Parts: sequence; structure tokens; C-alpha cells
Amino acid sequence: DPVVTVHADHIHSLAELKAATMRCRECPIGEFATQSVTGEGRLHAPLMLVGEQPGEQEDLRGHPFVGPAGQLLDRALAAAGIDREAVFVSNAVKHFKFELRGQRRIHKSPTQREQAACQHWLEDEIALVQPQALVALGATAARALVGHAVPVMAERGHWLEREDGLRVLITLHPSALLRLQADEREAAFAAFVQDLKKASVVLA
Ligand code: URA
Repeated sequence: DPVVTVHADHIHSLAELKAATMRCRECPIGEFATQSVTGEGRLHAPLMLVGEQPGEQEDLRGHPFVGPAGQLLDRALAAAGIDREAVFVSNAVKHFKFELRGQRRIHKSPTQREQAACQHWLEDEIALVQPQALVALGATAARALVGHAVPVMAERGHWLEREDGLRVLITLHPSALLRLQADEREAAFAAFVQDLKKASVVLA
């Protein structure tokens, strides 16, 4: 199939962004997903959190971070004293990528090419929201936001700077915490909360 480019030169609103990403077939993921999932929150939120891509629940419901990773994120935000309504929550990639195993759709990480194809939608979103700072949740988001590979474990809790001067706090993806053994989870959760607290200085 030919690559269909639907990127509009001017995206004026989050609704336009949602509609344009719905039609996007610049990479193969969109063909198989239920719908696109774009970021949510208020325009000019001081802080924008960026994950990897919508998961199974997000794909079905059309909203970012509403499944298990989202519930963990909500708990961590609450523990960090951050109101989810005060931040903008999005993803580096706007469609759910999965592999079918029987009837089940198993999450598959987007390739670097797929992330790169989706990059301009993320940049449109940042331009619309105009956050004062960003949080990269995991390696895919970090690469998308900073423009190069970031060793997340080494850089977590640190601010990196984008070419446009926007600062990006690096932290783990909440799904990484869900994969830990029970005995490791508590300390990892506390460290994640500390990272989010660091980012919350822009909310003061
Ligand atoms: N994981 C993500 O990276 N984003 C979501 O929206 C849900 C799960």
C-alpha cells in the first residue's frame, strides 16, 4: 500500500489533532488499532507527561492512561501531590500496537521508525499545549522528546533539555513497575513518586 500522508500543515486544536491522527496511516499501526488516542488535559498545563503508546484499554476507550499503567500513574501522581487535572497526559505514539495471540491482543513496543513517523503529531501537541516542562515516562518517550536514545535508568530523576529549550524530566514507564516482583515494587514506586515530585516544581 502507498504511504498515505494526512499530516495537515496547521493543526489548530486538540480536536483537529485527534481527527487527523484517526486517519493517519503514516505507519502500519493505525490500520489495526480501534482508534487513535491523543493526549488529554488542559491547554497550557504547566506539565505534560508523555508515555509510550496507548495500551489495550486505552485503545478500546479512546483515552490515555486509563488501564493498569494509568491506574498506577494516578496513584503515583496522588502520592506526589499532583492533581491529574493540572497536567496534560499523552503518548509518543498515538495508536495501539499489538500482536494477536489467539483472541488476545498483546502489547508490542513501537519500532523507532513508527515512533519517528508519529513524532510530528507529538510536536503539534506540544505546540498546542505549550507546557513549561515535560516528563518522559520510559525510553520511547525519552527518545521522542529529547531526539536521541536516553539510558533511562542512568538518567531518571534528571532534567534533560530539548533543542527548543524545553526541559524533560526522565523517569521510568509505570508499566515497568507493574512487571516488578512484589518485594521490589514498594521502593520502585517511592522512587517514581520522587521523580514526579521533582517535575512538579513547575506546578508551584
Ligand atoms: N501505556 C502508555 O504508555 N500509555 C498509555 O496511555 C497506557 C499505557
